[in-house]
Amino acid sequence: MANIVLVGAQWGDEGKGKIIDVLTGTSQIVVRSQGGNNAGHTIVHGGHKYVLHLIPSGILRPGKVCVIGNGVVIDPVALVKEIEGLRSQGIPVEKNLLISDCAHLVLPYHRLIDERREQLKGSQKLGTTKRGIGPAYGDKAARTGLRMSDLMQPTVFSAKLKARIKENNQILGTFGTKPISFRQVETAYLQAAETLRPFVINTVVYLHNALAARKKILFEGAQGTFLDLDHGTYPYVTSSNTTAGGACTGSGVPPHRVEEVMGVMKAYTTRVGEGPFPSENQTITDMLHGMGREFGATTGRARRCGWFDAVATHFATMVNGIDSLAVTNLDGLDTVERIKICVAYKLDGATVDVPPSDHQAFARCEPVYEEMPGWLVPTDKARRYEDLPVAARRYLQRLCKLTGAKLGIVSVGPRRSQTILV
Ligand code: IMP
Repeated sequence: MANIVLVGAQWGDEGKGKIIDVLTGTSQIVVRSQGGNNAGHTIVHGGHKYVLHLIPSGILRPGKVCVIGNGVVIDPVALVKEIEGLRSQGIPVEKNLLISDCAHLVLPYHRLIDERREQLKGSQKLGTTKRGIGPAYGDKAARTGLRMSDLMQPTVFSAKLKARIKENNQILGTFGTKPISFRQVETAYLQAAETLRPFVINTVVYLHNALAARKKILFEGAQGTFLDLDHGTYPYVTSSNTTAGGACTGSGVPPHRVEEVMGVMKAYTTRVGEGPFPSENQTITDMLHGMGREFGATTGRARRCGWFDAVATHFATMVNGIDSLAVTNLDGLDTVERIKICVAYKLDGATVDVPPSDHQAFARCEPVYEEMPGWLVPTDKARRYEDLPVAARRYLQRLCKLTGAKLGIVSVGPRRSQTILV
């Protein structure tokens, strides 16, 4: 098993949590390197459903070490809640969790500013998760953020927090939002700090020692390629680098130690939040929602759904350097007679085969489809590639051909057992 970076090849929610859970079986360390508790990974195991936001999915496997890297933004109170939730479900969170001392903190003013900015944008809103992610990364870039290492030093933390709250209360005041109480935040965060203290270390050094000891690392991506701050449908993106390079900057592991990139994509496309989505389709949306599928793990929002977009996933393969693909939710298409694949866009009368960088041009793109026959039988019991109906195998091969990477994994249901290693 190689050191693998697992990335979402679409707009997030590709089913990465389950694939990570499967791949964790053969790695020793699982690393989150970007995002925050805007992410939501759902894993069904042993009859239980676990929803993780900040803690890597490897936590469900005994003996694996989970690392929250320097590139992640952490809401300490939310993280403590997640740790306690797992413990109450019988999952030990002890020496198997490590948190970078360089990870930045999400503070209550980040959440309030996120929410208020969205309100002010009105119909132009981004559809954020309102977890304060954008403002927290904004502070990091502006060099006004607080880090885990600050939180570990109560006196230092309190002094910095006081100054930050003073400034942010002025910003909140201009938004007409009530000021934040320094004391309340200080108490809640310093309390969370004591629960987190045993986990906080220099994770860069830990990971380099692990590499020297030939341990295998799995980098667990959050969100997806088109939510990447640089390569996504800006401004309808999240505030971190969700593409493969983010795994290196967000963990301190150098690029040449990454041996493989796996891209996860659904057999169709979904997106939560606003922004362009050329292959969006109401019939598919209604069908999937009718099956009880495609509601967000973090906010519960109904996801927008559509046909598979090969233009987007081809670009994702290029920008991430995807070697192999994990195709999830194949069973979601079991009842569809004719399946469409978006193979190009029509933009202002021209045919284009790459997603336009400009979101306004992207929004004007009309999908060009090719069609394939559906298989019209349930696939959820397939355990080997050969168990899949011929039409489903042809569909998967077509997706790989158009996307430009080989097939690695097919997922036909939420359970660990419903996974086909190709
Ligand atoms: P933010 O990350 O909360 O700032 O939200 C920015 C955009 O990214 C919005 O469209 C969100 O819906 C989307 N987003 C953030 N996290 C996820 C995720 O884990 N899955 C899917 N979409 C996400």
